[in-house]
Amino acid sequence: DTPGPLAGQHVLVTSGPTHEAIDPVRYIANRSSGKQGHAIAAAAAAAGARVTLVSGPVALPDPEGVETVHVESARDMLAAVEAALPAQIAIFTAAVADWRVATEAPEKMKKDGGALPPLALVENPDILATIARRTDGRPDLVIGFAAETENVVAHAQAKLARKGCDLIVANDVGGTGVMGGDANTVHLVTPEGVESWPTLAKSEVATRLVGHLARLAPKRPAA
Ligand code: C5P
Repeated sequence: DTPGPLAGQHVLVTSGPTHEAIDPVRYIANRSSGKQGHAIAAAAAAAGARVTLVSGPVALPDPEGVETVHVESARDMLAAVEAALPAQIAIFTAAVADWRVATEAPEKMKKDGGALPPLALVENPDILATIARRTDGRPDLVIGFAAETENVVAHAQAKLARKGCDLIVANDVGGTGVMGGDANTVHLVTPEGVESWPTLAKSEVATRLVGHLARLAPKRPAA
């Protein structure tokens, strides 16, 4: 057995949506199948890394050889990510809900009576930015994703600066098929420039991304 290119490294991946409860039966969420994030976790494990996958609710099996932590909300996801540190590489693929309701109703809200429920929203923590801006224990490489429907690369460049991460994987979700589908068209955006890849299976995007990160990551002795 030759050690893989990520032997000795701990890779942390977030995947899937988060669910923000409104009441015991309703929630707010973004669309996300988790396919891309789960494929990245599996590819990192295949490259020899120890992998922690922090996943929101998805209909996918836990990848083999990966420690998977299941969470519901953005706040739970942040706590699980912080508990999993230190990591050398952190890849934030999850489609985290930007908002949650200010106060979760303890009982199912009633629709009879005609009045619409007032849903006051508050902002969720930005998990990627929180980790990228850590002053101690920041991973060597912090990677974000950007799902955009227009001006994909320009938005990704702005996001790179705003979040403080090292690389943004931007994908165009404006057409049909990416959400929940098996293919993805991505652009790797860094302060140095943009590398655009052809449309590939999400598993192939995962393998190539892991190879790319292995070339960027400082080498570590195999554990
Ligand atoms: O700002 P936007 O949601 O487009 O940024 C997307 C990137 O930020 C993704 O990598 C996503 O996983 C991450 N993110 C996060 N926590 C949030 C919002 C986004 O980690 N609350």
